[in-house]
Formats: sequence, structure tokens, C-alpha cells
Amino acid sequence: MPILLPADRYPKLFTAYEGPRLRLRNRILHASMTTRRVLASRVTPEMVQYYANRAAGGAALIVSEPLNMARVQNAAHKVSVWNPRNLDGLKRWAAAIEAHDCRLLGQVQDSGRGRHERGRNPAAIGASALPDDLSWTVPRVMRVGEIEAFIADVARSAQRLERAGFTGIEISSGHGHLFHQFLSPWSNQREDAYGGDFEGRLKFLSDTVAAIRAACGAGFVIGLKLPGDDGLPESINPTLGAAIADAMTRRHDVDYVAFCQGTHGRTLDWHIPDMHWPRSTWMGLIEQLKPSVNGKPLVGLGLITDPAEAEGHLARGQVDFIALGRPLVTDPAWPLKSAHGREADIRYCVSCNTCWGTIVDGRPLACDNNPRVAQPDEVDFRPRRAAKARRVTVVGSGIAGLEAAWVAAARGHTVTVLGRGGQPGGKTRLHALLPGGESLSSIYDYQYTMARRHGVRFEFGVEGDAATIADTRPDALVLATGSTMLWPRSLPVEWRDEGLIPDARTLATDLGGVTTVQGGTAVLFDMDHTEGTYALAVLLRRLFDRVVLVTPRERVAGDVPLVSALGIHRRLNRLHIEVLPFGEPVAESALEDGTVAVRNIHTGELTTIADVAVLSYSTPRAADDALFDRLQPHYAEVHRIGDCRQPRNVLLATGEGHALGNTL
Ligand SMILES: Cc1cc2nc3c(=O)[nH]c(=O)nc-3n(C[C@H](O)[C@H](O)[C@H](O)COP(=O)(O)O)c2cc1C
Repeated sequence: MPILLPADRYPKLFTAYEGPRLRLRNRILHASMTTRRVLASRVTPEMVQYYANRAAGGAALIVSEPLNMARVQNAAHKVSVWNPRNLDGLKRWAAAIEAHDCRLLGQVQDSGRGRHERGRNPAAIGASALPDDLSWTVPRVMRVGEIEAFIADVARSAQRLERAGFTGIEISSGHGHLFHQFLSPWSNQREDAYGGDFEGRLKFLSDTVAAIRAACGAGFVIGLKLPGDDGLPESINPTLGAAIADAMTRRHDVDYVAFCQGTHGRTLDWHIPDMHWPRSTWMGLIEQLKPSVNGKPLVGLGLITDPAEAEGHLARGQVDFIALGRPLVTDPAWPLKSAHGREADIRYCVSCNTCWGTIVDGRPLACDNNPRVAQPDEVDFRPRRAAKARRVTVVGSGIAGLEAAWVAAARGHTVTVLGRGGQPGGKTRLHALLPGGESLSSIYDYQYTMARRHGVRFEFGVEGDAATIADTRPDALVLATGSTMLWPRSLPVEWRDEGLIPDARTLATDLGGVTTVQGGTAVLFDMDHTEGTYALAVLLRRLFDRVVLVTPRERVAGDVPLVSALGIHRRLNRLHIEVLPFGEPVAESALEDGTVAVRNIHTGELTTIADVAVLSYSTPRAADDALFDRLQPHYAEVHRIGDCRQPRNVLLATGEGHALGNTL
């Protein structure tokens, strides 16, 4: 069991907590997140490992992912607590967490009518027959008997959790889930005992808390996650949020309150603030609502990524605990490293929401900046020494190359990195310089810090050609040379050869540091649909009178997780960035006259955009792998990683670099 020293730098964060039912070694809580590491509704070793790693890393309390507490809940990716056959698994889970002096709470949650995958939810239950904003799912209205059965099941399951060694439960009644849907007049238009007025809408949640209290022992913890402001019209604003919190904390002996924002509706992007939101996003709201919790311990949550920020919120008395969701996915040892003054060793969450995208796709929770999620050696990972030290040359100093380089060097190899640019980070650095991209620098900052610590030699501003590579006499050669955007096939190739139209990366580089408004229209052809393209669009909007995104698809941001895509749509609308769907720019454009012709891909009709100052394209990329064929005959070992192997995303670039570094 790791011992956490009371760190001088963060005295509040590492002050133990002694409450009526809770004893915690520090103030750091793990917020609930679905891991998609459950199979057939049973506890799996992989899932237990995920949580045990967070407990070993120093969190004082873990709120589990949502559990199937009522018999009507059957999701295969959630552990079924109502099923008695899972008792042993639940016991193993609780014991694995308690072994690290960490408490485990099970989360009660149901999505109700909310859905963020394609299509409607055919099994949705809900308060009223009203469509969900995103999927237009109309739920099956829960009859009074069903609500009562749900509550009774939850109470019985809570008893089972208590028997299994869980310290308590958290009821997720914010974020737009089922309890939230009952609380909100926007989604609850019942006229029976569970609707009609404030009291009626509160009854489902209130009865559930009362039933759990009655069913479980006096020491069983009940935490409430409540809606602070869901951002929908006629729904839960801070005034109603305060009334709900006041009523719940007056009537029930709950152990803490956590406020959150957003819904699983049009304000989905509010509920997991991405990199475009200010740090500690919800803290102003939490402070505003603080008087309504009647002195109950309050949790600070929402894009708190840095120990100094966390300490500040505690020191100012804003909250009693700090809950971390994504930051503990990225680094389970965040508490341990903070306690020991090793902040530079933390892999920081960059708020990209790739994690959310992976679980919504039905894949295990994964992270752009943590290639070892749920591995047995994940906590404070140190690469194992290589059997034989060798000379390794990495060509390319983007995130794939840097990851491979630091891991290989930590294993004892002598590593040289040849980077074409003047600084580490490659295209991720370029993205980090665009609006909202700043936090991405944490990926390459960590890699570069580690690489330097382990003695990697960097040569920047060097073209990694055959001669320079030969000078480094590598035993193993790693090519991480990235990729290049493909020329749009709808435009004449001569225009490419004449250098008339820059690709999005070239344009972003050229505009770096430009602040003078240029005027005219910027047209960006979008066959990319990932975050960076829209960050560039925002930059263009600052510099040009009009920005038009032309895409052959029916909409934009299609390859961004929906939780962040909604934020992109919101920004594009607010900034009046226009979107022209089903289109591609064509040769009929007269660039010298400032006109771009866009052809509808279905009808062939042409639309003309006038007064165009700049046309650019963000398109699928082809691997820059020419060196591979040229050098393979000359070296015993040549590897390609990241985009140089096949252009994909940050998740695969860091993952592939990490995996290779561990095998060289
Ligand atoms: C991948 C992922 C899954 C989540 N699943 C849940 C959930 O099932 N229940 C819940 O109450 N909150 C869930 N959340 C929200 C988090 O608990 C937390 O409120 C939110 O991420 C903000 O905290 P953070 O900025 O520290 O990540 C999830 C968040 C993420 C990133």
C-alpha cells in the first residue's frame, strides 16, 4: 500500500477527512466514468485492475461506473448488482480497492431517454412520452408501479453492495440522466404523484434516497450528483438547481453533494467540458449553489486538471473535495505524484474527450495521453530495462516518435531523435497553437521531459535523410515521419504544382502570429472532420470577414466524439461560420478573380463563393513513408509508427510509439 506523505505544497489536498460515515486519507475523489471493461454484466479482472490502479495511485474514494441496480437495467457493459450471482465479483472488486485504503461507492444511474449513439433506444424508460433532444428517442413511460419497483430494487441492490464491502452509493441525478429527467419540467410532464409540481418531480429521487437509507446500515454513505444548470429552456437553471439541492439536503442525511452541468440533450457538450472551456469550468456555478446544500460536504468537479488548481479551490474554502474524472484516466498516479512534488511526471488530461468517444463506440475506455490504461503496471509506469542496450534512431519528433524515444531511452538504449522542425511535438504542436488547442501541449511536454531525463539526444532542424541517419549508426531505425494531406481530386493538379492553394497545415503555419484582420472570405474544404480543422476555422474567422466550410458530407465534425462535436457546432453557429454540405471546390473557380466554384456532389449544380481571399483544404492524409523502402535494405531493423505507418489519430500515434518503445 503506498503511503501518501502530507505534501507541503498541497496541504489541503492531502488533509485527511473524517466525516460521520467517511474516513478518507485525502480529498481526492475519482468521478464516475463508464469503462466498457465489463463483460456479460459481470465483474471482470480487467475492470477491477482499472479501479485498483486508481486506488493505488492515491485517490481516497472511487465512485464506480453506473451499475445495473434495478432488474429493468440489463446493459451487458454494466455490472448487474440485482443479480445475486455477482456478489463474489463485487466482493473482489471492493476488496481490491479497500486494500489501498480507498473507499468504493457504486453509482446508481440510468440514461432514461438519453442516447448519444445512432438510432433510437428501443428499451428506454422515462418520465413522459417526450423525445430526447439528440436521438429523438421517446421512452416507455414508467408507470407508478414500475417506479416503485425500481426504487425497491435499487434499495435491495444497495444492501448487496454494502454486504460486498462497498462503502456506499452515489446517485447520478444530473447530466441529463433518468433522475434528472424526472426532476426537470422539460422532460417530466406527468400529472401523477411523480410529477405535476416541484414536489412531485422530486419524489423519485427523494424516495430512492429514503429507501436506501432505510435498507442499509447507519454507516452506509449516500452521495448525490445533482444538476446545477442544464442549459435547456424551461428546465433546471441554477435557481431550480438550488431548490432541489436545498430540499434534498434538508430532508435526507446525505454525505456529500456534487453539482454538474449539461444534459444528454442539446447541452451534451456542457456535461464533459472539453479543451475549449475554461479550467475549473463549473466552479463558479458550484460556489453559487454552495449555500443550498445546508452545510453538507461539497465536491469540486469539472475540468480540474492541475494539483495547484485543486489545492486553490480547497484553500479558498470553495469545496471540501476535488473529484477528478478524466485526469485520473490519464494518470492514475496523479495524487501520488502531486503528494511527492513530482508534478512534471504527471501525464495531464488534455480534455480531448477521446475517452468518451471510445466508450460510446463500445470500446474499452482509452486515452490519447495514457497508452497503458488498466495495465497491471500502469501506476507510475517505468519501462523495463532492455536485455541489451542498442543504438536507436528515431526520425520525426512528433508524438509517436517522442513516445517511442523516451520509452526506449528509459529502457537503456542510446536514442537519437532527428526532427525536421525546430521544436518537438510535430503536428500536435501546430494544433496546440490554434484556438482552444493549448492543453494538447501536455502530451509532447511530458514526452520531451521524459526523453531529456533519460538522455535522448535531439537534433532539430535536420532533414532525416539517408546520410544523416547513417551518421547515427543505428541498430534499430524508427520512422515517425508523419503524413501529408492529399490534394483534393476535384481540383486541377496544376494548381497544386503552382502552389496556388495551401493545405490546412501550411495555412495554419503561415497564419501563426498574424493578428491583422485580412478581410474577404476564407474557404476551407473539409474532408477531415476532426477537431483541428474547426480550430483553424475559428482562427480564420478572427482574420477574415466570412468563413465557409465546404464538405462533401451532410454535416461537419462527423469524426469528433459527439460530446465535443456539439461544442464545435455551437462555435460555428455563434461565429456565423457557414457550412456548405454535399460540396467540393472545382476547376471552374477563378482564383485570380476571387471566386471559388463549389459543385454539389449529387446534382452537379455549381454554387459560386465570391470575394475569396484564401482557399485551403483539410483532407485525408497519406503516409510520408518514402524513406522506408529506401532504407530497409540497409538496416536490420526499420520500424514505422504513427501516421508514417498509416495516418490515423493521436490515440494510435502515442499508443504505437509506446508499444514500439517497449519492444525495441
Ligand atoms: C468517459 C466518461 C464517462 C462518464 N460516465 C459517467 C457516468 O456514467 N455517470 C456520471 O455521473 N458521470 C459520468 N461522466 C462524467 C464525469 O463523472 C465527470 O462529471 C465529468 O467528466 C467532469 O469531470 P472531469 O473534467 O474531471 O472529467 C463520464 C465522463 C467521462 C469522460
